Amino acid sequence: MKKPADLLLQWYATEARDLPWRKTKDPYKIWLSEIILQQTRIDQGRSYYERFVQNLPTVKDLALIDTDTLMKYWEGLGYYSRARNLHHTAKAIHNEYGGIFPDSWEELLKLKGIGPYTARAIGSLAFDNQVAVLDGNVFRVYSRYTADFSPIDLPATRKSFQSVLDTWVVSAVKDQKDPQAPGKFNQAMMDLGATICTPRNPSCSLCPLESGCQALSKQLIGELPKKAKKLKRKTVWQHFFLLHTDSNKILVRRRPATGLWPNLWELPNAEVEEKEWQKGQLDGLELRGAFKHVFTHIDMMIKIYEGQPENAPAFDDCKAISIEEIKDYAFSRAVLKIFERYLSENS
Ligand code: ADE
Repeated sequence: MKKPADLLLQWYATEARDLPWRKTKDPYKIWLSEIILQQTRIDQGRSYYERFVQNLPTVKDLALIDTDTLMKYWEGLGYYSRARNLHHTAKAIHNEYGGIFPDSWEELLKLKGIGPYTARAIGSLAFDNQVAVLDGNVFRVYSRYTADFSPIDLPATRKSFQSVLDTWVVSAVKDQKDPQAPGKFNQAMMDLGATICTPRNPSCSLCPLESGCQALSKQLIGELPKKAKKLKRKTVWQHFFLLHTDSNKILVRRRPATGLWPNLWELPNAEVEEKEWQKGQLDGLELRGAFKHVFTHIDMMIKIYEGQPENAPAFDDCKAISIEEIKDYAFSRAVLKIFERYLSENS
C-alpha cells in the first residue's frame, strides 16, 4: 500500500489551491502570509496579503513604517497583537539580522510572534526544512486517518502526533526525491483539512487518503478529533454609541494600550448588565440595531444607539471626526461593521 504522504503529494500536484503566497520562496512573504492567515479565512487573508506585499514588498519596508500606518493596513483582521508582533519582528530582522531571515525553524522560533506552527511553516515552505506543521486542520486529518482518540488539546498528543508527522515528511523527501516535499506535504495537509476532511460532512469519496483512513472504515469520522476539555464561552453585553455633533461629525476615541483591541480607535461604548441590554431603550437615543460579534472565547452582544452626545453617557477623551475621516483611523472589525451597517443610511 502506498504511504499516506505519497498519496497526498500526488493529489496535491493536481489539486493544490492556487494561492498567491505559494508562488514564492521569499521568507518575508511566506511569514507575512502565515501571520495573516492565523485565525483568518483564506479569501479574506488573500486580499490583505496582496495589499501588504504591494505596499510593503520587503521586510525593510515593513520595519520602517509607523505603527498607525501598519494598523491601518491591518484594520479589520482582528487579533491585533499579531500586527504588533509582526512589526517588532520586522524591525529585529532589519536591525539585528541584516535583513535576512534565519533559515532554520529552530532559529525562527526565537522571533516574536513566531510559534512552533509558524516556525515550521516558514522553515518548510521557504527553506525546505524537513518538518511537519500541526494545526487544527492537521490534527483533524491525522487523528481521523489513524483513528487516534488521544485528546488533541493535550501537550502529550501534540508531541506524539508531531513526531510521527515529522517522520512522514522526512521519508516523503527520500521517496519522492524532492527537496520541496516538506512544503508541499504541509500545504497538502492544510488543503485537505480545509476542503475535504472538514469538521462536518467531510467529502471522503474525494479524499486521496480514503482507502487507508481508519476512522472512515470504522465509521468513526464524526467522533474525531477528540478533545479533553470543552471551550467555556463567555457572553458580554455592550452598548455602542454613534454620537453626532452639531457640526455633523461623530465621536471616536483611542483605546488604551493594553487589553482588547489595544490602541485602536473605537466608538464610545460601555459594558452593561444583560437586563439593561435586553430592555433596549435609552432616553433621547435611537436604538439602531443589534448583532453578535464572536471572538474565540467571547460572544459580544452589541446594541447600537444613535443620537447626540448630550443624551448619551459622558465619555472622556473623545474626538469628533467627519465621516470622510473614518478611513484615516484604524478601527476594530466590530466597529467597522457598525459603520458599514448603520452609518451610511443616516448620514
Ligand atoms: N493556512 C496557513 N498557511 C497556509 C498556506 N500556506 N496555505 C493555505 N492555508 C494556509
